[in-house]
Amino acid sequence: MNVLIITGGSKGIGKGIAEYYAANDYLVYSLSRTKSNLKKCEEVEVDILDLPLAEQKLNYILHKIDFNYVDKITLINNAGRLGKIASLGNLNASDIDTSIKLNTTVPLVLSNLFIDATKDLKSEKQIINISSGAAANPYVGWSVYCTSKAAIDMMTRTIALEQEGLANGVNCMSIYPGVVDTNMQTQIRSTSIEDFKNVDRFIGLKQNNELYTPEYVGQRIYEMDHGQQLNNGDILDIRYK
Ligand SMILES: NC(=O)c1ccc[n+]([C@@H]2O[C@H](COP(=O)([O-])OP(=O)(O)OC[C@H]3O[C@@H](n4cnc5c(N)ncnc54)[C@H](OP(=O)(O)O)[C@@H]3O)[C@@H](O)[C@H]2O)c1
Repeated sequence: MNVLIITGGSKGIGKGIAEYYAANDYLVYSLSRTKSNLKKCEEVEVDILDLPLAEQKLNYILHKIDFNYVDKITLINNAGRLGKIASLGNLNASDIDTSIKLNTTVPLVLSNLFIDATKDLKSEKQIINISSGAAANPYVGWSVYCTSKAAIDMMTRTIALEQEGLANGVNCMSIYPGVVDTNMQTQIRSTSIEDFKNVDRFIGLKQNNELYTPEYVGQRIYEMDHGQQLNNGDILDIRYK
């Protein structure tokens, strides 16, 4: 039995991933604030910004799974937010805090719990972090987002190093999904040029039909995952892989 636990499976990229894995006979659990009738998935309603509750829900899922039958288990840290798009100096503390918490703290907390709860499981185990090209390239107006994604990549590299010597180690990878047609892109395109000087590039990508669909990204990640293309510590961009 193959198992996927994903944050933010209700919409966008997470939905594309959850439904593609479920269609390929994975047992899929999604953690998000809203449910969206995902095909063949169990949806757990939770605001993962509430850290004790997020841990409780992940524990609930992990205890439902009979580890005796698990061949492979994957946690995908996908839920994320851009926050307000504007240069630093024009943001408020609460928005900064929420973005760092959702994009960085929550993946650290859930990965910590996942690694501990599966430490005696000898099956294949992995954590995939949905990162972004913004981890490696600064964009004016995205300081908090870029920072949070750079942190996720460092988390990937550190987990990989910590786990590589262990007998039952967890593999950890970051994946950049490209520019994908989701609510996050709608938010980007609706930002004023004063707050986001690159807005025209993103409007152009949409007008020229150059955005990936979430379904395509779900399929590509599944294929990379099952085509021996993911190695411990990898930081991969699906556009170039
Ligand atoms: N779209 C792109 O072009 C792009 C590019 C690079 C990287 N990414 C990354 O891809 C990931 C997914 O982005 P997306 O574009 O698919 O965004 P999206 O369409 O806005 O979806 C975000 C997902 O996260 C969930 N979520 C948000 N806040 C949550 C919370 N507090 N508790 C639980 N779930 C929460 C949402 O579910 P609910 O609303 O139901 O809670 C939703 O399922 C993010 O990490 C993003 O940084 C996206």
